[in-house]
Amino acid sequence: MSPQQKALFLAKKQGNFEIRSRSIPSPGTGQLLVKVQSTALNPVDYKIKETGMFLTHYPAILGSDIAGIVEEVGEGVENFCKGDNVLAHGTFTNDLAAFQQYTLTVASFTAKIPSNLSFDSAATVPLGLDTALTGMYGKHNGAGITPPWEEGGSHDNTPDKPIVIIGGSSSVGSYGEQSGTRLSNPHPNRIAAIQLARLSGFYPVIATASAYNERLVRNYGATHFFDRHLSGSQLKEAISRVTDKPIGVVYDAISLPETQPIGWGLLAKNGVLVLTLSPSVKEDEGKGRKVISTSGSPHSPQNKELGRNAWAMVEEWLSEGDIQPNKYEVLPDGLEGIIEGLARMKNGEVSGTKLVAHPQETW
Ligand SMILES: NC(=O)c1ccc[n+]([C@@H]2O[C@H](COP(=O)([O-])OP(=O)(O)OC[C@H]3O[C@@H](n4cnc5c(N)ncnc54)[C@H](OP(=O)(O)O)[C@@H]3O)[C@@H](O)[C@H]2O)c1
Repeated sequence: MSPQQKALFLAKKQGNFEIRSRSIPSPGTGQLLVKVQSTALNPVDYKIKETGMFLTHYPAILGSDIAGIVEEVGEGVENFCKGDNVLAHGTFTNDLAAFQQYTLTVASFTAKIPSNLSFDSAATVPLGLDTALTGMYGKHNGAGITPPWEEGGSHDNTPDKPIVIIGGSSSVGSYGEQSGTRLSNPHPNRIAAIQLARLSGFYPVIATASAYNERLVRNYGATHFFDRHLSGSQLKEAISRVTDKPIGVVYDAISLPETQPIGWGLLAKNGVLVLTLSPSVKEDEGKGRKVISTSGSPHSPQNKELGRNAWAMVEEWLSEGDIQPNKYEVLPDGLEGIIEGLARMKNGEVSGTKLVAHPQETW
């Protein structure tokens, strides 16, 4: 019998999770086999369980965020060796998903973990960062801003290019230093969209979250903070006291029906509202405002080029501190702990942090 491992399976569409054994896969061309030390949970994982979205084949393994040790290197892979500590963006194919003890990763969406970072920290990065990246820089499903690493990408913060980020304490929205008062395992943290906004030369960077996360969000890099419970007109009025320049980009990391109209109402003519979920606001004729629904997976054909370019820089960004991982909390009980963690996320009980599980601690 081929070597076995434990995996967390979603047994059937809208079914229950259960731990089962499965074979450890072998890496194909351009792939790595990784022993998963840490994996982070994302809202999409509970949404798939609840709605049956995205998947057609069951039993299915979920999870996008991978951090672990390279066990085997597939053909054609030159920049990784057995024993390297890596982080990677997985996808919802059983051999390439995160909620198992061993998974395959695509080498071009894998990066080495710098020595200053733990597996837990590294696991918080992939989906949040990639979603912020595509939303900002995607040509087809993002605002189409020139990335700061390309010619013409701006690094200078000038006081005439404001951006608003709705959901500054969410994983997608966020990347900076945190106050560390709300969690058992506080860790340096930045919010990706805020961080990228600063890298791209936006100023002011205006973000919303709950009032208790103000210090967290300001430390991430937001220059101005507003309580997310303000109405659309209250927020607009407050922002008008910060800047009289047109708001060209609103990144709504939350994208609920109640947040989208707020972002839409802030946008100037020809502005872009970037969403992480499907649009509920309608583009209006004549005013030129655009709504873009982004998708953070580098595995989708339209994101591959941006994904490859960005993943080639992830190790350097992390070691230089240009991008810092999310604050995290480690769940107990290995893969089993993911079930309770996803329930907490679904109930809105997770604020300003990423939940992380250790698949090797599964019994
Ligand atoms: N399209 C894609 O590829 C893609 C990829 C990743 C995520 N997403 C989606 O993007 C959304 C965010 O994902 P995530 O992982 O960043 O979530 P998350 O970190 O789990 O979000 C939790 C945060 O949401 C904030 N929040 C909740 N309601 C809010 C509101 N009305 N206004 C402002 N902030 C609010 C909370 O802020 P406070 O505690 O400060 O109130 C909390 O800190 C989810 O719906 C997810 O499914 C889509």
